[in-house]
Amino acid sequence: MTDLALRGATYTLVADPFLNSPANCAVYEPDGCILIQDGVISDIGAYADLRHKLPADIELRRYPKAILMPGFVDAHIHYPQVEIIGSYGTQLLAWLNKYTFPAEARFIDPDHARRIADFFIAELLRNGTTSASAFCTSAPGSVDAIFEAARRRNMLILAGKMMMDSHAPANLVDTAQSSYDDSKALIERWRQRGRCLYTVTPRFALTSSPQQLEMAGALMREYDDVRLQSHISENRAEVARAAELYPQRQHYTDIYEHYGLLNERAIYGHGIHLSEDELRRFHQTGAKIAHCPSSNFFIGSGLFDIAKTKDAARPVTVGLGTDVGGGTSFSMLQTMSEAYKMAQLRGISLTATQSYYLATLGSAEALGLEDQVGSLQAGCAADIIALDPRATPLLELRADAAETLDELLFALMICGDDRAIAATYVAGELVYERDASN
Ligand code: GUN
Ligand code: ZN
Repeated sequence: MTDLALRGATYTLVADPFLNSPANCAVYEPDGCILIQDGVISDIGAYADLRHKLPADIELRRYPKAILMPGFVDAHIHYPQVEIIGSYGTQLLAWLNKYTFPAEARFIDPDHARRIADFFIAELLRNGTTSASAFCTSAPGSVDAIFEAARRRNMLILAGKMMMDSHAPANLVDTAQSSYDDSKALIERWRQRGRCLYTVTPRFALTSSPQQLEMAGALMREYDDVRLQSHISENRAEVARAAELYPQRQHYTDIYEHYGLLNERAIYGHGIHLSEDELRRFHQTGAKIAHCPSSNFFIGSGLFDIAKTKDAARPVTVGLGTDVGGGTSFSMLQTMSEAYKMAQLRGISLTATQSYYLATLGSAEALGLEDQVGSLQAGCAADIIALDPRATPLLELRADAAETLDELLFALMICGDDRAIAATYVAGELVYERDASN
């Protein structure tokens, strides 16, 4: 690994602005410097302070027009669904049957899995996303494909085999036992390899038998370093079906809690229709939520209430996810824009600080990775992006009119997209450069 230093404006979140005074949450340095050694940020500060400390032979790369930030962290995404992004005309349960399951069935073919995994990783990096929690399919080879693609770039990816033994097509279902055995074999193969993190992945209560949820709980007890991802309370018909399938349980959250799946290592997508009691269970157990606004708009699922979810009286940790292919964009900037619009419809206006927090440190916290990614702090991986606030003619005009940093950052997240990502670094290596061909 080459050691290097990046010079440019730097911006990072250091605390949760939903729960702390915003002034204490973000650090901006107009002429900053990040020292990278062995793929890790070893020092960061004002260039004027750091320049004397830089090793004499260090390579210094300048980003005079960019803002250097931590790479985005996508808290919830489905890599096998890239081919069905933007599929017309259905809501969740019909959408799964009509588009999602047929697309996922193709991953039984390892060549297909490898091709889509490579595309997916490249697309994340083009959008400035340096870590993601990715759902795979029920085919174990789909997990190998994504971890292999991530490992080639030394990228931190969380992924897991979809556990799904009920109410799904025959070419996708596993059994409670086979899902346990396959997941266990994958955990043994992938733990402590590169930056790959295994995530036990029961799709949701509608496609898992009680025995399978039991097995997911057993895996969580056996391996204290694996995480869990699933879905909850995204769509009203889904919530009603969960109650029909698990009539003895108090509510949707109680299903997962009953099987030992609600704890600080668990993250659930959506959580739009959770009751106060359920949100309290999330708070008390430390389970997290991935907010996926572009998906919620597109599939017509409902309006997530971020203020209620993060109520300081019993806050739930929330990260931000694209949920591609239910979500409509890989861009976390676009996803922040959608989160803003959704909050507006709920009567609150997210600030720029809150929005960039959700897309970086917030998602890292929601995945239990805040000591590794999501902020520019000494000791964190050098997963860094150079954001160009003047990436398009419109953004340039808008940037010229901006009077404050917050105004600039806000307009950038509302109007920006992949074009605003000038460069992406993973573990200190340049893995994407927008203008590389010029
Ligand atoms: N709930 C269960 N599976 C899925 C999925 O693949 N996408 C979304 N958006 N919700 C789900
Ligand atoms: Zn999802």
